[in-house]
Amino acid sequence: MKKTIYPGSFDPVTNGHYDIIKRVSQVVDHLTVAVLDNPRKTELFTFEERTEMLKIVTRDLPNVEVDYFKGLLVEYAAQKDVRIIIKGLRAISDFEFEFQMALVNQKLDPQIETMFMMTSNNYAHLSSSIVKEVAGLGGDICGMVPEEVHDLIVNKFNT
Ligand code: PNS
Repeated sequence: MKKTIYPGSFDPVTNGHYDIIKRVSQVVDHLTVAVLDNPRKTELFTFEERTEMLKIVTRDLPNVEVDYFKGLLVEYAAQKDVRIIIKGLRAISDFEFEFQMALVNQKLDPQIETMFMMTSNNYAHLSSSIVKEVAGLGGDICGMVPEEVHDLIVNKFNT
């Protein structure tokens, strides 16, 4: 399968994200993990920190690149000549919003398809928000985030 984009906020990257990245990278030719640089959103980690963490965790995946985008996802995809957007689905609760976004993106650019990958069972409970909640309250986030970025995430709450 051709070139693909996996977009997100990744605030911060979790093992659920990594699971999707790795599995997609095994079935496509090329995957761009695209970090949304949205000045209006209030992320905990800066855009540079989120991008850097993704670069660290994907460095052993040769067909994965980490990039960023501003504005509309479909415009970014078209600029990169990519026609497949990958989204992860954890539960029925994800479906409604993801379905809405897929339909909007289809309306904006019918050439671009959204494809969904189901999360692995082990990570169905995980989200960036849960990681921040647990880490912020001093809980153990081992197993929730890739080992290589564990300390970077924990240290954010100790500064
Ligand atoms: O990790 P997230 O926060 O669920 O990712 C959401 C993201 C970045 C994929 C989504 O907000 C997005 O595509 N934003 C870009 C703006 C856009 O294209 N909006 C129109 C589709 S609703």
